[in-house]
Amino acid sequence: MQVKTFADLDAVSRAAIDDLAALVGASSAPFHIALSGGTTPKRMFDLLVERGKQALPWDRIHLWWGDERCVPPEHPDSNYGMTKQHLIDPLELDVANIHRIIAEDDPNGAARAYNDKLVAALGSPPTFDLVWLGMGPDGHTASLFPKTAALAERAVFCVANQVDSPVTHGATTRITLTYPALNAAKHVRFLAAGADKAGMLATIVTGVRDPDTYPAQGIEGEDVVWLVDTAAASRLA
Ligand code: 6PG
Repeated sequence: MQVKTFADLDAVSRAAIDDLAALVGASSAPFHIALSGGTTPKRMFDLLVERGKQALPWDRIHLWWGDERCVPPEHPDSNYGMTKQHLIDPLELDVANIHRIIAEDDPNGAARAYNDKLVAALGSPPTFDLVWLGMGPDGHTASLFPKTAALAERAVFCVANQVDSPVTHGATTRITLTYPALNAAKHVRFLAAGADKAGMLATIVTGVRDPDTYPAQGIEGEDVVWLVDTAAASRLA
């Protein structure tokens, strides 16, 4: 695991885009990315739009999601909805390359359907070229929240996870990829910015390994890189 530190969220976002350009440019094959939700990716999406559609081979880039809230796409909490607003619509990306989690109806059915779609497209385990992840103040990533059932899942690649956390403002259901899917990725990039992430980042990176309590610690693979700003890195030695 590597940690690369940048001045601010803007610099983190630009670094993530340069990293994406290098990875996607390494071959001419279809390139499959699992996106994170939340707020951190918004700046990166806006900068991708500023660079223009010609900056990347979007015709062969496929967008998937690492997790989704159980709301309709137009709901303000929808990760797909945020991506549609900040990236998909402004760049007029091909709908055939957009693979949203249809989470608004039956969560368990949605998870099964996404699991099957992932396996059909990317194999078993589904192997993403790149997974972008964020980290919550409680150490969750995707919708792998502390002490939740999804953390123990090793057989399937996408589940409906019952969460009851201050971060989710109480009990809710989230659809999330599981460790077997996330850890099969060729490349994983965490993006984290802001002083509110500093304590947890220090715990995740340098603390005792306890993924059940700090789920971001359960993300492993040969190429996991944290792209963070100086505020988030302020508690790292
Ligand atoms: C979600 C995300 C989640 C997010 C973290 C960080 O659905 O909320 O996938 O894992 O990445 O909560 O969120 P911020 O970027 O808003 O801090």
